[in-house]
Amino acid sequence: MEYGCIGEKLTHSFSKEIHALLFDYDYKIKEISKDKLCEFMTEKDFKAINVTIPYKQDVIPYLDWISDTAKAIGAVNTIVNRNGKLYGYNTDFSGMTALIKRQGIEIKNKIVLVLGSGGTSKTAVAVANILGARRVIRVSRTAKEDCITYEEAYNNFADAEVIINTTPCGMYPNIIGEPINLDGFPKIEAVVDAIYNPLSSNLVIKAKDKGINATGGLYMLVAQAAVAAELFIDTTVSEEKIYDVYKKIVATKRNIVLAGMPSCGKSTIGKRLAKELNMQFIDTDEKIVKLAGKPISQIFEDLGEDGFRDIESQAIVTVAAKQNCIIATGGGAVLREQNVTLLKGNGTIYFIDRPLELLITTNDRPLSSNRDDLIKRYNERYDIYCNTADRKIKNDGEIKSVIDAIKEDFLK
Ligand code: S3P
Repeated sequence: MEYGCIGEKLTHSFSKEIHALLFDYDYKIKEISKDKLCEFMTEKDFKAINVTIPYKQDVIPYLDWISDTAKAIGAVNTIVNRNGKLYGYNTDFSGMTALIKRQGIEIKNKIVLVLGSGGTSKTAVAVANILGARRVIRVSRTAKEDCITYEEAYNNFADAEVIINTTPCGMYPNIIGEPINLDGFPKIEAVVDAIYNPLSSNLVIKAKDKGINATGGLYMLVAQAAVAAELFIDTTVSEEKIYDVYKKIVATKRNIVLAGMPSCGKSTIGKRLAKELNMQFIDTDEKIVKLAGKPISQIFEDLGEDGFRDIESQAIVTVAAKQNCIIATGGGAVLREQNVTLLKGNGTIYFIDRPLELLITTNDRPLSSNRDDLIKRYNERYDIYCNTADRKIKNDGEIKSVIDAIKEDFLK
């Protein structure tokens, strides 16, 4: 391997794609188990590498030289092999600084909670300190020397103003949940999550719902990769180039999520969109039938609506983690808050707003098999569709205009 990224589990990594957009060197992703790290580092069979979880501290003893920033942080994410000597840097530091700046987050004089105790948390602490935070407190699940526990954070630092998450809680493939409950911190102004897969973790989505300035970590990832590339091949990368690569990566990850009443056109619109945008089409109802091994009407008969919703939520966890897909959801999928939070992780939710008089009843839809039920559901749900969606698209005329409206919004 000439250039690449090492880590223990790298299924979530976007680094290969990012480096391919930055420069044309061959960048490989290499998973290394803990017992093989020593062999890899002593063989030095690479020109330059990035290092990720959990090896950012473990690689340090193998280095011949380490930058001041990396030394201060105690974590290395970039190693350059110059004539057999290994030079260690921390470009996460530049990446996180760039992310906070681009997001317009004010750190000066703020109380900052940094969640996690791994290598990235040390980077976050260093960045927050450099940017003039009033206090920086590390929070960890287990009691450690320079960390407080979550319980202590809730009890003693409820006045925190910024949260930076560096834990993997909420990261693909375990995308459910968040490391901290924002309700306990009423003064929070900004949330930064180093997680970039999904694009917005549950923590980021919940923060945005509260009107908090919140961002996932993709821009940080791209910016740190750009600084790494500068070191790899002794070049410079402009801020415009970093933003351009970031936008390109986002464009290949985002999902279109279609929500709305049964028979509003989700599947028809979804299939056509998938074709036109060259994205995969997924129908959550089909996933549910597969999971349960029986038709929807039978699931309702055997398990009732709650039982159906449980299976639906299971299906949505899997589907929401996908990228570059068109997802048609069942009419009731957005009734559960958790489903919505998950679907927003990679997706923009479009409410297909078809007027009641144009909706039709069908026998295979237990909750809207007759007109009265359909009207009842419509009235119960209309506001929920509006409140959970990112956009509302009217579907009362030509289907082409609906498709064009979604495409225009999604691609802008
Ligand atoms: C439901 C809608 C159906 C299906 C199930 C429940 C609902 O999906 O998930 O019958 O609660 O409205 P469609 O909206 O695709 O018909």
